[in-house]
Amino acid sequence: MLDAAHALISKSDTKAQGIWARAAAHLCRQALEASLDKLWTARMPEMTETSMRAQLACLPTYLDNDDLAGRIAYTWSALSNACHHHVYELERQRLSPALQWSMTFQWPSDFVRIPVEEWGRRPIEELALKYDTVEAHGWYRNLEPTVAALQAFLNDDDVLLDYSAGTGILASRLLTGDPDFGILLVDSSPKFLRLALEKFRHDERVAFRWVRYLRDEKRIQFVDEVIQGEILAHGIKAVSSTNAIHLYYDLPATIACWKRILCRDGAVFAQSGNIRHPRAPAEHWIIDETVAAVHEEAVRIVAADPNYRLYAEGTREPERMKTYERLRRKFFLPVRDLDYYLEAFETAGLPVTDVSYTAYDADVEQWYQFLSAYHEGVLGWVGGSERIEGKPPGPKAIEDRLALMRKAMDRVFEGNTSFLAGWTYLRADKGR
Ligand SMILES: C[S@@+](CC[C@H](N)C(=O)[O-])C[C@H]1O[C@@H](n2cnc3c(N)ncnc32)[C@H](O)[C@@H]1O
Repeated sequence: MLDAAHALISKSDTKAQGIWARAAAHLCRQALEASLDKLWTARMPEMTETSMRAQLACLPTYLDNDDLAGRIAYTWSALSNACHHHVYELERQRLSPALQWSMTFQWPSDFVRIPVEEWGRRPIEELALKYDTVEAHGWYRNLEPTVAALQAFLNDDDVLLDYSAGTGILASRLLTGDPDFGILLVDSSPKFLRLALEKFRHDERVAFRWVRYLRDEKRIQFVDEVIQGEILAHGIKAVSSTNAIHLYYDLPATIACWKRILCRDGAVFAQSGNIRHPRAPAEHWIIDETVAAVHEEAVRIVAADPNYRLYAEGTREPERMKTYERLRRKFFLPVRDLDYYLEAFETAGLPVTDVSYTAYDADVEQWYQFLSAYHEGVLGWVGGSERIEGKPPGPKAIEDRLALMRKAMDRVFEGNTSFLAGWTYLRADKGR
């Protein structure tokens, strides 16, 4: 298969015109899957019957080599991406040759675009790769209004600071328009930032900063503790925060810092699907609240199905279930009202100037794929979590957990293939 892929890439063949790159990616992915099949046949034959997602999740345990397992997962995910067309990628290919030569954006001379730090040399981790797959999900259309607002607001030479940039999905959408502004990606997760670095290392418009957790002070570093000098004098024109503001435990302090680094006419563009909006219709979901519903439904399923007898026993221990509820709330934080956010912006001296709300069709299967990356948080009580029990669940328990999640989701969404999830958008202008 690899030989066939190599032949496609190296020879010019008019019959394969337009499809050779994708065909080569398909062949390489099949070759990788065949190698994994061989590995599982030798080490754990039951795994060959499981989904690729479950296989990649179990790989670090069975390979005993996190680096190699991470690279395999990354290669499979990158090949899978290459096997599918993304509209925004096509647009980039069409636009970039004509525009790239005219690019002039430059970071200030004393600014280090990629700090030489340990996180940048780490292997790419599976959790980040899994998160990154949401880029292709329909519900990630939630970025569209933010992309449009930033494109309208930013001019050449401006700097956007994408706070909680994650794996850089917002940046990749902005960059498809080949803008001439800089994007500084800031995140508290070195794992996510590492994947973002992998994607944009060669794009001079993108810079990276890790804000670390300061254990003694029990807080995450402020952005102005990791950027200094000319970049602050140059001024940050906009701060974006997408799908993350509901995670900040000291929101007023975070916003106050945004205010400090913004230039005089700068603005914040924040959005989240986990804000309770008072005018949201009752049938719209707060996306993280689906998790508690899935958990409750899974408890009902294991109680009724003798195949899950073992797991049902565990659900009858109230203390154990409380411990797993606390674990779930660490992954999926309790939802806060819109007023909480408006007050936090007000307190920080950066009052909100615009609020809007939009609902998106979230595909149940895609939401399942996303949640499966956090199966420990959703249904940790099925098979147990290492951080609670001291030992990891076996592959069978992970398979059961994933299958239960899927079944429970079908019931929660009453067999529908999609549900409506509401997103709230906030804008705050420093100049007003
Ligand atoms: C759901 S992801 C969203 C990533 C990205 N903005 C997007 O829309 O795809 C949430 C991100 O927030 C980051 N995060 C969580 N708490 C944070 C904090 N207090 N300060 C900075 N980043 C934080 C996480 O590391 C993660 O990358």
